Amino acid sequence: MSASDSTAALVLDSVSAGYGGHEVVRGVSLSLHPGRIECVVGPNGAGKSTLLRAITGDAQFLGGRIWLGGSDISRMAGNRLVRRGLAWVPQLDDVFTTLTVRENLELGGFLLPRRRVAARVDELLDLFPLLRSLTSRIAGRLSGGERKLLAIARALMPSPTALLLDEPTAGLSPEMTGLVLEGQLPRLSESGVAVLLVEQRAIEAIEISARVHVMVSGEIRVSRPAAEVRDWDELARLFLGEG
Ligand SMILES: Nc1ncnc2c1ncn2[C@@H]1O[C@H](COP(=O)(O)OP(=O)(O)O)[C@@H](O)[C@H]1O
Ligand SMILES: [Mg+2]
Repeated sequence: MSASDSTAALVLDSVSAGYGGHEVVRGVSLSLHPGRIECVVGPNGAGKSTLLRAITGDAQFLGGRIWLGGSDISRMAGNRLVRRGLAWVPQLDDVFTTLTVRENLELGGFLLPRRRVAARVDELLDLFPLLRSLTSRIAGRLSGGERKLLAIARALMPSPTALLLDEPTAGLSPEMTGLVLEGQLPRLSESGVAVLLVEQRAIEAIEISARVHVMVSGEIRVSRPAAEVRDWDELARLFLGEG
């Protein structure tokens, strides 16, 4: 995998990252493609969140390269990444709890030309019908699932190339988990964005993914088409690194 993979939206080439010089994620290579969901599953503490933070510039970058749409974004962070086309939703939402749903979406479009913002909000309300009935609700009064949908919609406002999601169903009810994973994620990936999904709910994540990467102790132990990993025994063996 390298920058020469011209169909890829996001390419990680031997990425290592951690904290305070301590390596947590080791030599991870993977590439995301437009309109596809890929998931990273693995035990608690495996380094899944750190991997996402390596991409977003929130963990210490210790080696390798990251390419987004052909440009090197290694060690980049914050709004520079948003401008290049990266979007991400950390496990703890970044919605503004004192603002309405619509205001949150508008803020997510702060990089867009002003005249584009209202139209883009409308497109996202089409993509997330549940949010349409909630546009004047204060975000702090949303349920956990509604709030997660808002955080995802807000991240999508600038029409990113790639979207990173860290355990979007953590703490959600079974119904909301179903709505997020089976209801919304396939629809939004069909709109063309490449999605990297980190999930504890491995089986459900694999069901909607094109490819699954199993991370154990900071390394991707197995990467394979999701269609080849559809039962618990197989998954348990992969988690234990016997793939
Ligand atoms: N901010 C941090 N500072 C130092 N160590 C961290 C930090 N965040 C996570 N870690 C450590 O990195 C390792 C991987 O954590 P994490 O990436 O959160 O795993 P996962 O998301 O797979 O549960 C753990 O040993 C954790 O203690
Ligand atoms: Mg995590």
